[in-house]
Amino acid sequence: MDKMWSGRFSTGSSSLLDAFNASIMFDRKLYREDIEGSLAHAMMLTKQNILTEQELAEIQTGLAQVIKEIESGAFEWKISDEDLHMAIEKRLTAIIGDAGKKLHTARSRNDQVAVDFRRYVLRKNLEIVDALKLLMHEVLIVAQKHTETLLPGMTHLQHAQPINFGFHLGAYLSMFKRDIERFESSHKRNNISPLGCAALAGTPHNIDRDLTTSLLGFDAPSVNCLDTVSDRDFALEILFNISTMMMHISRLSEELVMWSSYEFGFVELSDEYSTGSSIMPQKKNPDVPELLRGKTGRVYGSLMGLLTVMKGLPLAYNKDTQEDKEGVFDAVETAEISLEILKEAIKTMQVKAHNMKKASKIGHLSATDLADYLVQKCNIPFREAHFITGKAVAKSEELKIDLSEIELKYLQEIDARISEDVLKFLQLEHSMNARKSAGGTATIRTEEQLQYFKNFLGA
Ligand code: ARG
Repeated sequence: MDKMWSGRFSTGSSSLLDAFNASIMFDRKLYREDIEGSLAHAMMLTKQNILTEQELAEIQTGLAQVIKEIESGAFEWKISDEDLHMAIEKRLTAIIGDAGKKLHTARSRNDQVAVDFRRYVLRKNLEIVDALKLLMHEVLIVAQKHTETLLPGMTHLQHAQPINFGFHLGAYLSMFKRDIERFESSHKRNNISPLGCAALAGTPHNIDRDLTTSLLGFDAPSVNCLDTVSDRDFALEILFNISTMMMHISRLSEELVMWSSYEFGFVELSDEYSTGSSIMPQKKNPDVPELLRGKTGRVYGSLMGLLTVMKGLPLAYNKDTQEDKEGVFDAVETAEISLEILKEAIKTMQVKAHNMKKASKIGHLSATDLADYLVQKCNIPFREAHFITGKAVAKSEELKIDLSEIELKYLQEIDARISEDVLKFLQLEHSMNARKSAGGTATIRTEEQLQYFKNFLGA
């Protein structure tokens, strides 16, 4: 009968209940947020003459000791204490006596956990933004070296038009920038304080929510307490934002896996970030991007898990909500290690520019350029130009060459209106650099795009 809520019970709880009900095994991660929340709450209660200065001083000393015990490993985390909130309050009271019993005045575990978990998520939003910026920085360095490195741009995974590798990486920089903006906007929207909402309806004590709001670094107190104690949108948002970020990471990883194959040979991951096979001595496997692709699945699982937990809950707090934490912790840890290792893999990989260029010479990538030439220089309607180009492609296939290598005489046999200046248009570099419309692949446009991301990172 050592439970804090045991007053109305006549027997103790079963150990089965204790094990099932407890969150202390995982919510102990929030001890700093919990103790900072308690300190802010105690300071506010003192300013409002609900606690005395003496009691506040005792609470401060006691909580400082609790932090020390937790960080030194001396703190005893017991399943029977149920969660970190009760474990810490119980230990505080054991250390300082009666003042510890007053700390929970005008507070409930419902607003307490909402404060702790929200502050953890807010902090992680910003830490993930920092890690994303470091990743973008490494991608940018590679991209800047390769604004003239030709590779086949693809649609349907078929060779389509020549682009440069810097432009290709610029697509991922665009995705990561959007990811950053999503974490930041979620942070801004959710930076509101639940403290003082108490169990669900506020409190009759004369509290000052503005004070705890500013002490804890929130922008404003929440508006409706009933919503606040049951709101987990901030957790869903970080799960969605991590899911989307991991989807982007997974797409890049898929390309890294393909590019590392003999068939592509566009990149070689460093030995440091590759693995071997237990049976095939020659193998060098891209486990890092494969795992990044795989880990995306578990993050989606956490998002779907919490969405499902929340969907049927009546107002306000329900114990179901305790299921919010493990998925978020797991997703955050997955995001952190994924960003770190992808950054290192990119930084240390070798870009095989010659293979990219060789691949650009397969599949008649400048075919669209021939059609555009016929339209621009010979005033031929596009549909007809498309047909003539098809003939030129067929001739190149017959000659077993790429369209960029075809001799003028073959083109003129197909259509006499074609003149010598066409050959320039068929060159792959020319084709890439011709696409200089805004946002296009031309080297000068790519450089502008990369400068834009550089400015974004510098800001
Ligand atoms: N361990 C609980 C959780 O994580 C804390 C809140 C419990 N509140 C309650 N009224 N039982 O959600």
